[in-house]
Amino acid sequence: MFVVLEGPDASGKSTQLKLLDEALRQKRIAPLITREPGGTELGAELRELLLSPSRKMRPLTELLLMVADRHEHVEEVIRPSLDAGRWVICSRYVLSSVAYQGIARGLGAQIAMQLNDAATGGLAADYTFLLDLPPELAYERTGQRDRFEGEGLDFYAKVRSAYLELLGSRPGAYVIDATLPPEEVCRSILARLPVP
Ligand code: TMP
Repeated sequence: MFVVLEGPDASGKSTQLKLLDEALRQKRIAPLITREPGGTELGAELRELLLSPSRKMRPLTELLLMVADRHEHVEEVIRPSLDAGRWVICSRYVLSSVAYQGIARGLGAQIAMQLNDAATGGLAADYTFLLDLPPELAYERTGQRDRFEGEGLDFYAKVRSAYLELLGSRPGAYVIDATLPPEEVCRSILARLPVP
């Protein structure tokens, strides 16, 4: 199973990765926990470039670097793990690029999708969970520490509406209320996964 968590900064994705890891291990499933950007050695360097608050770059450059990170991650980590029969739980994937670079940065959803198709070879998540937060809350909760967190409330609002639109009626995609306590969020994710 390939499970992806999406959502704005401060929506609790890292906490959920930890809780899901623990819960699945109790069910004798040892998932690979990973994230984008930064799930490979090269990706860790790309992540630094992408998040550094002092680094200026054009939106298309940002998209190309996110997609480069994803290509390495899919080829080096995600696909080999899935092929070996392992569950993969990943913080962020294609929808992040479509929501952030395609829609919020205004490059267009289509180019973001096309570049992502090339980078992933069409590998799609089996389950996608959007940890949904009102933009005001996400904005308030983030520390404004990186290039993305430092964007204004308007950017957070664009990302949120992009996510909701993209999720739409996509099979295997669910919107989860991230204002709930972490244990409850984890329970509602687990309830939708094919685990005993
Ligand atoms: P993270 O803090 O959730 O790990 O993500 C770092 C930032 O990268 C986050 O603000 C969203 C941004 N991002 C994109 O803009 N596009 C992408 O494709 C990915 C994976 C992340």
